[in-house]
Amino acid sequence: MAKSKKKKGLKGLAAKADKFDCYQQSVQEPEHEVDVFEQVFKEAFDRKPLTLREDFCGTFSVCCEWVSSNSKRSAWGVDLCGETLQWGRDNNLSKLKNKAAKRVHILEQDVREKNTPQVDVLAAQNFSFWIFKTRQEVIDYFKIAYNNLASEGVMVMDMMGGRDCYDTDVTDKRTIVKGKKGFKYHWEQAYFNPVTSDCTFYIHFKFGDGSKMEKAFEYNWRFWTIPEIREMLAEAGFKESLVYWDEADDDEDAEWIAVDELENDDSWICYIVGIK
Ligand SMILES: C[S@@+](CC[C@H](N)C(=O)[O-])C[C@H]1O[C@@H](n2cnc3c(N)ncnc32)[C@H](O)[C@@H]1O
Repeated sequence: MAKSKKKKGLKGLAAKADKFDCYQQSVQEPEHEVDVFEQVFKEAFDRKPLTLREDFCGTFSVCCEWVSSNSKRSAWGVDLCGETLQWGRDNNLSKLKNKAAKRVHILEQDVREKNTPQVDVLAAQNFSFWIFKTRQEVIDYFKIAYNNLASEGVMVMDMMGGRDCYDTDVTDKRTIVKGKKGFKYHWEQAYFNPVTSDCTFYIHFKFGDGSKMEKAFEYNWRFWTIPEIREMLAEAGFKESLVYWDEADDDEDAEWIAVDELENDDSWICYIVGIK
């Protein structure tokens, strides 16, 4: 996971809190991810996917959910950061039944290495591939991802955008756990350079006693757009790419539909799916 501030200097609840636990509670919905992977694969190939490679897997909660959802499923999680992977072993993998845990395989390495079996679904979630800042780097990564997929396979990535996402000095705040012992998630849009599309985001956590874990996570990315990603998927060899948009009303569960045209939206999240 991204650079984090050491616990040293933190006070109150912030000093006792676990940044990975706060992160998972704030931004991850593994069950939802697995539903989306299943939906987009089924729409492409009319069967259930069984194998997953989760690139940039962090604490690999999605791998753990994948193997729990079906006893025939296996998952490979890939991440560079040993500390983050170890947290996943101690806190996510350890909660699985023995048989399911054996179907999760963790690799501490660069996602640009090809050494897992070819899979049905390759996921790169939470904008992680935005760490690649040039077309060449992204295309090279997509080519490797393509080769990591079985002959019938899908690559799933989430994307964000809309004019509000380019604002700087803006912090989006959400209460994750209410009350004096609870905490809030702060997503700070700190920097955007319109010349290069380089951007910096921070995650901070603010606790019920007023203490704060500042810059728990820091991301230095390039802000890519949907058409750029689709063009690069095509250049890397994917035969088709689809954009899945949430067409549900705000108070309903998400309903992801493949779309070609939309009304403008000031702030959105969608999935791009590359079909091999
Ligand atoms: C934004 S976090 C995403 C974690 C998780 N996928 C999620 O959805 O919350 C990005 C992760 O990518 C990892 N990472 C960054 N560059 C990498 C690379 N070249 N190869 C493998 N992992 C990388 C970091 O260690 C970090 O855990």
